[in-house]
Amino acid sequence: MAAIINQENTMSLAESYPSHDPEWVAQVHATQYLQSWSKQGGKPRVITGGEGSWFWDNHGKRYLDFESQLVNLNMGHQHPKIVEAIKQQADRLCYIGPAMGSDVRSELAAMIADITPGNIVSTFFTTGGAAANETAIRIARHFTGRSKIVARYRSYHGATGGTLSLTGDPRHHLTRADMPGVVRMLDPYVYRLPTGHRDPADCPVCQGGPHLEEILMYENPNTVAAVILEPVVGTNGIIVPPDGYLQSIAETCRKHGILLIVDEVMAGFGRTGKWFAVDHWGVEPDIITAAKGINSGYVPLGTMSVSQELADWLVDYPLPGGLTYAGHPLACASGIAAIRAMAEEDALGNATRLGEAMRDELWTMAERHPCLGDVRGLGMFNGIELVKDRETREPLVPFAAKGDAAAPMNAMMKAGMEKGLYLSFFSNVIRLTPPLNISEEDMFHGLKVLDELLEIGDAACA
Ligand SMILES: Cc1ncc(COP(=O)(O)O)c(C=O)c1O
Repeated sequence: MAAIINQENTMSLAESYPSHDPEWVAQVHATQYLQSWSKQGGKPRVITGGEGSWFWDNHGKRYLDFESQLVNLNMGHQHPKIVEAIKQQADRLCYIGPAMGSDVRSELAAMIADITPGNIVSTFFTTGGAAANETAIRIARHFTGRSKIVARYRSYHGATGGTLSLTGDPRHHLTRADMPGVVRMLDPYVYRLPTGHRDPADCPVCQGGPHLEEILMYENPNTVAAVILEPVVGTNGIIVPPDGYLQSIAETCRKHGILLIVDEVMAGFGRTGKWFAVDHWGVEPDIITAAKGINSGYVPLGTMSVSQELADWLVDYPLPGGLTYAGHPLACASGIAAIRAMAEEDALGNATRLGEAMRDELWTMAERHPCLGDVRGLGMFNGIELVKDRETREPLVPFAAKGDAAAPMNAMMKAGMEKGLYLSFFSNVIRLTPPLNISEEDMFHGLKVLDELLEIGDAACA
């Protein structure tokens, strides 16, 4: 496509590009826009609008968003209170440097201190989850004077050098990220118990502390700065730890002077039915990182919030990190509005009630779908694990399968889109993470469509 703007030609940009033409939009997307984690060149559906739990394309076809886009639209598309807060802040002040005092920055920091567990008191604002985790591990290393970080295999912590090195999922290999000092531990994956154990109660990995202690024995605890984990694993399979796991990890960390960083980027801000996933187990981490649901993703925003002990230390030592857009006023204003809306509209209560109803319905569906091996989740953070055989639990597709190897999963996603249901999967797990404020009617509609899609899975396990 010929360039319309060049040094000689200074035509008005608005007049020059036919962006009202969906075919042109799709063509440029395929050839001049680079898409995350993908081979390039594919033409996308062109989305023209959204409201609540639904979005639609240029043909007017509507899709129920059972993934909340990237599990970030916790209050759905175009929530009027969040949109209005952004508009009002844009009229008042779009940007002011991070060192300046700003009402919206202070208000959001105070709100976060109020809703985070334990003695988390102080927040560094970022532009997303990766920058929050990157800053967290840097603080942990400076504060402890130690270098190693323990992270888990089934994890995703972001796409920067450091956070991809912490990430255990296959994107880690794709990028050859290799920050020194990362030590891995196994995951408390109760449906597929690690190391051949048959009962979670006998499995040191699922107990947490014993597995970590063994690793620390080899690594030397005095060299370990922090453990970082997703309290409920998101992208890598919606894995809810058994009761006692997180408490045991927290205790072991405390015993050895190791900081506990919980990555609540996906699980936080109401996704599990509580403000933070750790609230289900009364665990008090040293650092909480978050992003996504904090403002339903309307403006890029992440947070790294620290305990009183770390906040006191940061009075004497400079924060080892910074961003031009730290505490961006538009992001902070949208965060305040989103948290207020979640509280006023009881989004967490809705997520808890409907999440439970969703899992009950899924277990009922399991009676007629042989491919449905496991149903798990908390609040609106749910997943179903598909198998070839319920007895052996052989996965329907191999770990991290893509392309032909993931054929039945891809077929279900494709059929879902044709039937107006937007879903996503990793390996053999389909995530079911609609907005927290989805209506009961929409949720059951989505499950009815899913019921039809699972016949594709059943056919693949026969
Ligand atoms: C648990 C977790 N941590 C960190 C990240 C990275 O967040 P971002 O993409 O905003 O950098 C993600 C993104 O999906 C995530 O799920």
